[in-house]
Amino acid sequence: MIPDAHDLHLYLKTQILGRQFHCFETVDSTNRVALELLRDGAIEGTTVLATAQTSGRGSSGRDWQSAPGGMYLSVILRPSLALENIYQLTLVAAYGIVRSLSRVSGIDIRLKWPNDLVIQQAGKLGKVGGILTETRIQGGVLSGAVIGVGINWQNPVPDVGVRLGSLSRTPLDVTLLAATVLSGLEESYFTWQARGPASIINGYERYLINLGQPVRTPGHDGEGHIIGIDAQGALRVLFLDGTQTLLAPHGCSLGYRT
Ligand code: BTN
Repeated sequence: MIPDAHDLHLYLKTQILGRQFHCFETVDSTNRVALELLRDGAIEGTTVLATAQTSGRGSSGRDWQSAPGGMYLSVILRPSLALENIYQLTLVAAYGIVRSLSRVSGIDIRLKWPNDLVIQQAGKLGKVGGILTETRIQGGVLSGAVIGVGINWQNPVPDVGVRLGSLSRTPLDVTLLAATVLSGLEESYFTWQARGPASIINGYERYLINLGQPVRTPGHDGEGHIIGIDAQGALRVLFLDGTQTLLAPHGCSLGYRT
């Protein structure tokens, strides 16, 4: 069923995100549509929402399985941001969305570095959602970004996936879920714009399920432990001899075993 734009506007408490809305029952990729709207000059906050995708895009060039019953949303942002700080947009989105979804659903949702929304169930991590940021650069300057958010709601999910809809303590529907995602994202976006990356990094780390996790990194003997992230989204790893190293996002994967 096509998401109800009227319901969505009733639930929305945002100032800019979601004020312009495009709803689809099925679309190839909400990120693709949003990037096209970005190119055509759509205003900041323009949002694309669908309940199914035929070519959903995941991170690292993977597909995002997007069967009917999920929530697939993309929102256009137009921050002025140096190119080396682009990854901050994913951190801003991850922090804002996990915080808002946890509050509204009553479920302890956490972040698995760098861009997964997860829950821990019977000692196993389950993925309830993911974030894919795509950007456009013109003349060496960021002209805009699309934050794509996929939430496993009532859709069939792959092995590591979990349906949030089966766990939520609050009766949500796709439009309320979308409004919750947009409110959380807008709140952290405004905080980041007003107070800089430090506020977001601290918040992100509070939800980071990988804190304290042992990891091995090339060039170091022995295990290190994850102690946080830096402003570019890299993992900070501390070794027993007191040295630290950084692991860049998508330079490695932490896997789904706990
Ligand atoms: C990940 O791999 O974890 C990120 C997945 C992001 C999927 C969302 S669904 C809505 C938006 N449209 C897409 O094609 N991808 C993103």
